[in-house]
Amino acid sequence: MTTHATFLRRAIRRPDLIGAPAPTGATLAAEIAAVVPGTCPATVVELGPGTGAISPSVRARLAPGSRYVAVELDGELVTHLRGTLPWLEVLAGDAADLGTLLAGAGVGPVDAVVSSLPWTLLPPERRRATLAAIAATLAPGGVFATISTLTALPALRRDVLRDLGDTYDEVLATRPIWRNVPPSRLLVCRRPHRW
Ligand SMILES: C[S@@+](CC[C@H](N)C(=O)[O-])C[C@H]1O[C@@H](n2cnc3c(N)ncnc32)[C@H](O)[C@@H]1O
Repeated sequence: MTTHATFLRRAIRRPDLIGAPAPTGATLAAEIAAVVPGTCPATVVELGPGTGAISPSVRARLAPGSRYVAVELDGELVTHLRGTLPWLEVLAGDAADLGTLLAGAGVGPVDAVVSSLPWTLLPPERRRATLAAIAATLAPGGVFATISTLTALPALRRDVLRDLGDTYDEVLATRPIWRNVPPSRLLVCRRPHRW
């Protein structure tokens, strides 16, 4: 089965988890990968890698000595990733349990977290708990970048933006990429309020 077919099959079976009809396109993948430090060894975590649409762009940025770990909740996608991207260290689990998952894998403070989790589909409490778990893993100077789907209901997008603003001192939105399916932009967050 092709990567696109695998993605579509999981999207049909678990619309609550996948939240998109197609994998992220190359332009958006390159844009999110650009937040990853490219000149020094870094620890990078990807949340919700799906079929790995973003992962090769992130990997291409990494300096020697970097560590790149992905956390995926869908069991079939975990199996797919382990078969197709053997260089990606995939942890099976829920991003809400990020601290425990990373500690179990011996991963220390994280320089960059990149995410395409479907934030608007998560219950508010779980969304806030997951955002707090991400912020808690970041090293000083670390960055969190997430894809924001522009086709989601405006009220839900506002809720996500509010939660990000409650968690980070800086939340920057990039320009929309209309030809992505679905049209999306990046939200790039720095300086969790705990610092
Ligand atoms: C919109 S898809 C993005 C897939 C891929 N990164 C891409 O850009 O094409 C969302 C992904 O997040 C995963 N996911 C959803 N909730 C999750 C959670 N709580 N923890 C980890 N992964 C989750 C889904 O299984 C799916 O692979």
